[in-house]
Amino acid sequence: MPDRPLPAGLPPAAAAPARLRVGVIGAGRVGSVLGAALAAAGHDVVAAAGLSTASADRAARLLPGVPLLPADEVVAVSDLVVLAVPDDTLAGLVTGLAETGAWRRGQLAFHTSGAHGLAVLAPAERAGVLCLALHPAMTFSGGPEDVARLVAAPFGVSSHPEHRVVAEALVLEMGGEPFWLAEADRRLYHAALVTGANHLVTLVSEAADLLRTAGVENPARVLGPLLSAALDNGLRRGDRALTGPVSRGDAGTVRDHLETLADRAPDAVPAYVAMAQRTTERALATGRLRAQEGAPLLELLRNASQAAR
Ligand SMILES: NC(=O)c1ccc[n+]([C@@H]2O[C@H](COP(=O)([O-])OP(=O)(O)OC[C@H]3O[C@@H](n4cnc5c(N)ncnc54)[C@H](OP(=O)(O)O)[C@@H]3O)[C@@H](O)[C@H]2O)c1
Repeated sequence: MPDRPLPAGLPPAAAAPARLRVGVIGAGRVGSVLGAALAAAGHDVVAAAGLSTASADRAARLLPGVPLLPADEVVAVSDLVVLAVPDDTLAGLVTGLAETGAWRRGQLAFHTSGAHGLAVLAPAERAGVLCLALHPAMTFSGGPEDVARLVAAPFGVSSHPEHRVVAEALVLEMGGEPFWLAEADRRLYHAALVTGANHLVTLVSEAADLLRTAGVENPARVLGPLLSAALDNGLRRGDRALTGPVSRGDAGTVRDHLETLADRAPDAVPAYVAMAQRTTERALATGRLRAQEGAPLLELLRNASQAAR
């Protein structure tokens, strides 16, 4: 197996060997892409798990020639096991594999969940597996373009301190850049990413639908430059990048919006109210709005929120 000297205190699988036998459970959007990245780094992807047609298609595209096997058989043939299953499935899978004696001392395993840390891997750790939590802070749809998205992608990593060198080596090999997260902070970290990335998709889709209702034929053309600039400004300047009626204390405009949305797109009202409330609170907290400007806005939005219930 390993053909390089081991860093002190690490089990054999931690040697950053030239070639690891990698097993991927399962061949979903993330697993198939990380498997492809590990193969590109010179490792040998020897097996993957996944029952659905979607997993089989992804494996055929991104992990060509890799056999699909049951999860315990994937573990049996692997030095490194990539656990890329839905968050709620992870604990049962790791425990089930421990109960059937699938894990071997000296193996490496990492999961890709943002919400979980090392605790969920405890049954494997007790069996002598070197466990890591490596979460790519990136969105994957399972296409070949996802492999390129790994380049310089930040990975939120939790590991025991003595295993950091292994975690770092694996992330760098996949093209990513590690940063360290305490076990206790992972859920908040993940909630932050969901707020930013997943809710952004909903916001964009909602805005596009409203534009379509307003007769705009190509919402993406209208939103593209505006949203790209807003994202760029927001990342660089934070709350100071805010523009629009809340930033100016224009309660009359916000009232008009609420009336129009109630008339033409009532499903969009609660989200508009919630975001406008949070925008106002943040504008007040950062001194962007004075109290006398924010108060009428907050009252208007509170009333709208109660009316929408
Ligand atoms: N997608 C993203 O953008 C993204 C980004 C970063 C991190 N993540 C994390 O990566 C993990 C996987 O997410 P994903 O989006 O790749 O999910 P996904 O596309 O739904 O894929 C899940 C895979 O797990 C397999 N699976 C489900 N239950 C299993 C079990 N009990 N035993 C063996 N295999 C099982 C599925 O196989 P079947 O074909 O049989 O259903 C499928 O291949 C999650 O923890 C997620 O939070 C996702």
